[in-house]
Amino acid sequence: MRRPTALVAALAAALACTVAGAAQPDWSKVPARKITAFYPGASPLEWVTKGTEHGGARAMRKGETCASCHDAEAADMGKKMVSGQKLEPTPPKGKAGSIPVSVQAAHDGTNLYLRFQWKQPPASGGAKMDAENAVKLAVMLEDNKVELANLAGCWATCHEDSRTMPGAKDDKKTKYVAGGSVASGKYYDLVQWKSKGKPTDGHVAEARVAEGGSALVSAEGKLAGDTWTVTFTRKLAGGAGDVALVSGKTYNFGFAIHDDHAGGRFHHVSLGYTLGIDAKADITAAKM
Ligand code: HEC
Repeated sequence: MRRPTALVAALAAALACTVAGAAQPDWSKVPARKITAFYPGASPLEWVTKGTEHGGARAMRKGETCASCHDAEAADMGKKMVSGQKLEPTPPKGKAGSIPVSVQAAHDGTNLYLRFQWKQPPASGGAKMDAENAVKLAVMLEDNKVELANLAGCWATCHEDSRTMPGAKDDKKTKYVAGGSVASGKYYDLVQWKSKGKPTDGHVAEARVAEGGSALVSAEGKLAGDTWTVTFTRKLAGGAGDVALVSGKTYNFGFAIHDDHAGGRFHHVSLGYTLGIDAKADITAAKM
């Protein structure tokens, strides 16, 4: 009997990839950008833009992005909110103030691949708001139509009257875009990986909808040692509620990690960044 050759093994591996939907990029060749996700406390869009308390409001009216002022200091900001020094009436016990995340993107003409890696912070011993999922990672994409999305990233969906916000009266009200609708294009595409539950492919317009998208091919995550790796594969094209991604264009992009069984607003979030498809941006997905 002949031994299987390396070629046969390679073909089998290639076939396995095809069956799984798509071949992952060689991540060792894809540039990585460090983005610090930080604990935002209760800092809704209203607080950020009102200007009576937030030093950045006036500059935002002139078109400055959150990241232009805060990118390098996100870890310090997280410390202030997580400790209750600022914008947090109920500081979560033992929670990390920030999580440095390595972000990579690539595409193959059919699919976009996004990879996130971070070291799991020590367990807080705090309340398990999501008993099922220890960790979740959500990504939001926006096609330059929602007001402030280009400056504020996910903050354009984060409002003072949403559930789990201090003083919110409606415990069902989710994230939303003011004046948003799928028909007008004013929405964020939203995908979420969960450590236990099924991934979701939805959007945020009038409200957060955790279904209906057709672009997500897979969302996979694993913990190796103390490092999480979460990878999304999504079609560049998309249906209703998906942002269709086109070579040469840039999109507004942000992500959030619900660490340590967190729920609702008790997450770590990135500021807003740009994702370019073969285009210069904070993160560029180049064709592999
Ligand atoms: C022109 C620079 C500038 C811009 C743009 C800006 N900020 Fe700020 N931000 C500040 C300054 C200065 C402070 C600290 C003093 C204060 O609270 O006014 C601050 C404070 C904060 C804080 C409280 C934590 C802390 O370190 O005091 C949060 C949260 C925050 N900003 C979020 C945002 C978000 C989100 C955006 C975009 C939607 C944004 N900022 C845009 C300058 C800016």
